[in-house]
Amino acid sequence: MPDIAIKVSKATKIFGSRTVLDAIDLDIYRGETLVILGGSGSGKSTLLRMMIGSVPIDGGDILVHGKSLCDMSRTDLNEYRKSIGVLFQSGALYNSMTIADNVALPLREHTDLPEETIELMVKIKLELVGLREHATKLPSEISGGMKKRAGLARALALDPSILFYDEPSAGLDPVTSAEIDELIIKLNKLLGVTSVVVTHEMDSAFRIADRMVLLDRGKFVASGTPEQMKKSTDPLVRQFVYGLIDGPLTERKRTGAYESDLLMDNI
Ligand SMILES: Nc1ncnc2c1ncn2[C@@H]1O[C@H](COP(=O)(O)OP(=O)(O)O)[C@@H](O)[C@H]1O
Ligand SMILES: [Mg+2]
Repeated sequence: MPDIAIKVSKATKIFGSRTVLDAIDLDIYRGETLVILGGSGSGKSTLLRMMIGSVPIDGGDILVHGKSLCDMSRTDLNEYRKSIGVLFQSGALYNSMTIADNVALPLREHTDLPEETIELMVKIKLELVGLREHATKLPSEISGGMKKRAGLARALALDPSILFYDEPSAGLDPVTSAEIDELIIKLNKLLGVTSVVVTHEMDSAFRIADRMVLLDRGKFVASGTPEQMKKSTDPLVRQFVYGLIDGPLTERKRTGAYESDLLMDNI
C-alpha cells in the first residue's frame, strides 16, 4: 500500500443551505501529483481550501500525514500552514516589493535565519523556477507566466512537503501554460513533494497527473490514473475526459439545471 499524505474522509462543506461538498472520500499518496477535476462550481477550490485549513470542515475529516485538521488548534493550524506551499490563481504577489523580496517574505516572517542565508535561499528558489535573472524586478515588470513562477518560488520558500495549486494555468496562453505544467512536474520529481492541483483543463490534467479525481456539483464521481479515467464507462467521466458534446452535462444544460448551477457560481 502506498503511503498516504492526505486522507479525505466523508469531507462535507455546507454554505448556507447548500451542500457544496458532499461526503467526499479521497486518498492522496505521498509524492504523487493528484489532479482535482470538475466543471466550474463543482467544489474543487473549496476542497483545496479545506485541505489547506483555510475553510472549516462541516462534516467528516481530513487527515494530513495522519493528523486531523478538525482537531487542530489555531496554533497547530498555523504550524501546518507553514509546512505546505500554496499557489493561488492570481499568484498573489505584493506589487510594491521586488520578486526576491516577495520570495523572502515567508522566510523573514517565520524564521530567524540571518539575512545572508535568506538571500541564498531566495536565489535557490528563483533558480528552481527559472527566474534568477529577474530577482530585482517588480511584479508589474514581468509576464503572467513569470508571476506564476514567482508565486511558486514563494510557495517553496519554507521547503513544504505538500504543494497545492489552484488553477495554475488560468489566464495563460497554451505555451506558457504547458511550461507551468513542466515546472509542476519538475518540482514534484526534484523535491519529492506531494502535489495537489485543481484544474478544469484536461490537456494540463493529462500532462501532469499521476492520478485524478472528478467532482460534479459537490459529489465524488470517479478517481483513478489517467489511463483508468480514459477507459471509464461512466457517461459523466467520458464527457469530461473527452470533451464530448453529448452527455449528462449537456443534458443538464438543456433541462435548465445547468443555468441554475452557473448562477450559484464563482463567489
Ligand atoms: N464562501 C462561500 N460562500 C458561499 N458559497 C460559496 C463560497 N465559496 C464557494 N461557494 C459555492 O460553492 C460552490 C463550489 O465553489 P468552488 O469550490 O469555488 O468551485 P470550483 O472551484 O469547482 O469552481 C459554488 O457554487 C460556489 O458558489
Ligand atoms: Mg475554483
